[in-house]
Amino acid sequence: MTEVTERTHSSGATAGTAEPIIRCVGLDKWYGSVHALKNVDVSFNKGEVIGLVGDNGAGKSTLIKILSGAHAPDAGEIFVEGKRVHLRTTRDAMDLGIETIYQYTAMVPDMSIARNIFIGREPVSFRIGPVGLLDRRQMARESMEALRQVDLHLRSPDTPVVELSGGERQGVAIARAMYFRSKVMILDEPTNHLSLKETQKVLDFVAGLRDMGITSVFISHNLHHVYPISDRIVVMARGEKIADLPKADTTIEALSDLII
Ligand SMILES: Nc1ncnc2c1ncn2[C@@H]1O[C@H](COP(=O)(O)OP(=O)(O)OP(=O)(O)O)[C@@H](O)[C@H]1O
Ligand SMILES: [Mg+2]
Repeated sequence: MTEVTERTHSSGATAGTAEPIIRCVGLDKWYGSVHALKNVDVSFNKGEVIGLVGDNGAGKSTLIKILSGAHAPDAGEIFVEGKRVHLRTTRDAMDLGIETIYQYTAMVPDMSIARNIFIGREPVSFRIGPVGLLDRRQMARESMEALRQVDLHLRSPDTPVVELSGGERQGVAIARAMYFRSKVMILDEPTNHLSLKETQKVLDFVAGLRDMGITSVFISHNLHHVYPISDRIVVMARGEKIADLPKADTTIEALSDLII
């Protein structure tokens, strides 16, 4: 078991150690008789890129589903910027600035880019983000601006997402998170099934998020994707966190050994 010092045991921020964006304490999750998460303590700090790795069934997606409000834990506590939260819906998580991107479910393929950017945040219910009510034209304009921020130059905000490549779709999802000033971006296998070039683009997006001070949690089976962009690597196995290491203290080889 490899452990780094938990910087975050005290509830208040101590000198020089900012409160983590997200802190989980003792998370447990059962699916019937499957114990998918076992007493997991983990923290994500502001502006960090955290690589979350582990073999199939290790509990990675379960952890992030809990953090995105999709699943409820059976035990444990979640703190966002030091405040205890109860994430009952994905909307609860989004309102707290936690955005999750899945390879396939992040987008509604038949809807336009603009609609996808504003999905779940339809104009009448705007409470966060830099704008109040938006009309369609404004929505289109804002969408293109959001895409330009991630250096994605697509033809038109009315293009259906189904016509975009996998990498472009990830770009749209990331642009959305940036536009709504998300604090934490969770990416579950965002480079799955992407070409080399598209993978590089997604990795560049994540680097861009760090430059903006946004925390990213990046899940991938491919250590060669995770390692270069991560500041810290969290390793899970059989529902437990088995390592939590600054990148400088580990190597791809050491991580592969831990995972296997
Ligand atoms: N909805 C579900 N119902 C029942 N069991 C589930 C469910 N979701 C996950 N599990 C089980 O919980 C355990 C953890 O699964 P999880 O999806 O979190 O793993 P993972 O680390 O994301 O794996 P992968 O790398 O394959 O995506 C596995 O044993 C899995 O079979
Ligand atoms: Mg998974």
